[in-house]
Amino acid sequence: MDNLSVEHLLGIRDLTEKDIQIIFQTADSFKQVINRPIKKVPSLRDITIANLFFENSTRTRLSFEIAQKRLSADIVNFSAASSSTKKGETLVDTVNNILSMKVDMLVMRHPNPGAAQFLSTKVNAKIINAGDGTHEHPTQALLDAFSIREKLGDVAGKKVVIVGDILHSRVALSNIYCLQKLGAEVMVCGPTTLIPKHIHQLGVKVEHNLIKALNWCDVANMLRIQLERQDIKFFPSLREYSMLFGLNKEILDNLDKEIVVMHPGPINRGVEITSDVADSKQSIILNQVENGVAIRMAVTYLLAAKIKHQ
Ligand code: CP
Repeated sequence: MDNLSVEHLLGIRDLTEKDIQIIFQTADSFKQVINRPIKKVPSLRDITIANLFFENSTRTRLSFEIAQKRLSADIVNFSAASSSTKKGETLVDTVNNILSMKVDMLVMRHPNPGAAQFLSTKVNAKIINAGDGTHEHPTQALLDAFSIREKLGDVAGKKVVIVGDILHSRVALSNIYCLQKLGAEVMVCGPTTLIPKHIHQLGVKVEHNLIKALNWCDVANMLRIQLERQDIKFFPSLREYSMLFGLNKEILDNLDKEIVVMHPGPINRGVEITSDVADSKQSIILNQVENGVAIRMAVTYLLAAKIKHQ
């Protein structure tokens, strides 16, 4: 098995196309494992992992935890709300205390962009970024691209539109890097106020008309409006946003072709996507969640291999 070119998974920007293909091939094997009656392998029984979540999460936290258990790693879970960071301890002190307990690897979600990268320069452990503010969410992008590959056979040559709150979205940035490295064409679509001004410099198309964007694409990735990151109003109301950028069944059924619908979750039903679209046969939302476990097993396994070989 080939090695990854990186020591940590901090962002998709750092990965080569070969790294992504290695992760996908490893995830293919682990997807078989998790669909067997005995869903576990003993690969990481000598590895201890701490999951540090300084921000809310359902899918990513549970998916990492299940992935680690399927690999037989020892795990500990840290939640900022009930920790001594509330008493003024710094991030580096907190983490170094956890590492003193012979922890080998950290999975961290943090509200500050760059937090995982910062930590990687300060502590001696493998680090996986589980989402850092508005910056990157690399395992989400990997599981998204893996799900497109599974559904459409390949990512190369496919047209993917990412719709919604691009400005505040780590999922959008990681998806743009990942899809482009794999040879897909990427478009972003949303209100002008939620599209970063210079985003075309990343080589993406920009469209403000949802119907035009959907008629262009093979895959639509519908993002949630991140109200928790918006300290000013970027559009008049959720109702107006939904009328202009929400995907409903009537729109879907009247497109020129059958497209694949994705969403990273959590969904706000009736805002960016209606229930009949989210639950339709064109939606692969729950496949994305299922694939998240295989992808996180693959990333964890490949980085742990580097600990053993040091
Ligand atoms: N997609 C995603 O990151 O979901 P959570 O915030 O629930 O982890």
